[in-house]
Amino acid sequence: MANVTLHNARKSFGSVDIIKGVNLEVADGEFCVFVGPSGCGKSTLLRMIAGLEEFTSGDLKIGGMPMVNVQSADRGVAMVFQSYALYPHMTVAQNITFGLRMAKTPADEIAKQLKHASDMLQLGPLLERKPSQLSGGQRQRVAIGRAIVRQPEVFLFDEPLSNLDANLRVQMRIEITKLHQDLKSTMIYVTHDQVEAMTMADKIVVLNAGLIEQVGSPLELYHRPNNMFVAGFIGSPKMNFIKATASPAKGGKINVALPGGTKIVLDDQGRQVTDGQAVTLGIRPEHLTIGEKNDGELKGTLRIAEYLGSETMFYASLADGSDLSVKADGLTTAKQGSDIKFGMPAKACHLFDAAGKTILNGDLSK
Ligand SMILES: Nc1ncnc2c1ncn2[C@@H]1O[C@H](COP(=O)(O)OP(=O)(O)O)[C@@H](O)[C@H]1O
Ligand SMILES: [Mg+2]
Repeated sequence: MANVTLHNARKSFGSVDIIKGVNLEVADGEFCVFVGPSGCGKSTLLRMIAGLEEFTSGDLKIGGMPMVNVQSADRGVAMVFQSYALYPHMTVAQNITFGLRMAKTPADEIAKQLKHASDMLQLGPLLERKPSQLSGGQRQRVAIGRAIVRQPEVFLFDEPLSNLDANLRVQMRIEITKLHQDLKSTMIYVTHDQVEAMTMADKIVVLNAGLIEQVGSPLELYHRPNNMFVAGFIGSPKMNFIKATASPAKGGKINVALPGGTKIVLDDQGRQVTDGQAVTLGIRPEHLTIGEKNDGELKGTLRIAEYLGSETMFYASLADGSDLSVKADGLTTAKQGSDIKFGMPAKACHLFDAAGKTILNGDLSK
């Protein structure tokens, strides 16, 4: 069993607090993704789990065993870095088996592990090459192979695909997901790319400035964000935020007044607003409609249209000057500079208070 538990984990560099009290449970065999903007502390937290960074305070357990004072090599973890960190003068085979050779592992065991890893990663034909003779994707596979032969209980990945081009990223993403299915090990994977997070994770941990904003499955975070930060970070293109005022209405409803004098009525879901409360209405670009009024209507001026074939992206500005992005099907066209109306389904609308906390989430299943 290799569940990973963090209890009130803190890390300061000098007087600067970087990790500010993180509590987290990663289940055995789970694929957990840490996501968040650059500088929020993802790598620091991962390095603390790896034993490459000391805890300022707090606890870490792996498989129920306290780990804060255990050497990195004895934690049963293996880390894969963005920079690959391969030895340039060694062949692929030598790079993969370096750790085993240092640990004086018997030769037949080394050969077995090398075969297992190279088969899994399709590195067989490349074993005698040097890193300089490999593509970026192949180098990253070697770095992953080096982690696999150590047979860790927990794999730690720090933005392993960031140096690869877009096509290769998609391919490697699928390979790592398959690897997880085959090995069934616990994996913690750091990325700033929310598409990677959505597609790979069993569980996403959204970090912001050294604290967890929310933990949940990809679809939980997409449908039920706790706050504007998570709502804006998960989902691509990102959720639209529109300044509005809310007032309670009869029959369990909330009236929301929007820029340009339009309004929309939402189910209050048992939540309270005060009369004229300043709120932010959130609606995702894929949920706005074009050419039908729906439950509410936004009027804007079309600034830019991007025809991507599979879809069309519209960027408009509203009466109050705020921006709106809309994702429509690939056949939709509109003239740049023209006035345009967007329909809003009430069930797709989220409401946030002035502090950015969720008042209510839409419910698309309705
Ligand atoms: N060794 C260090 N000394 C001082 N500050 C550091 C050190 N390592 C990281 N930091 C700071 O900690 C913050 C979080 O860094 P990091 O964990 O690398 O973020 P992320 O991986 O989310 O981009 C950054 O502000 C960074 O400058
Ligand atoms: Mg980082």
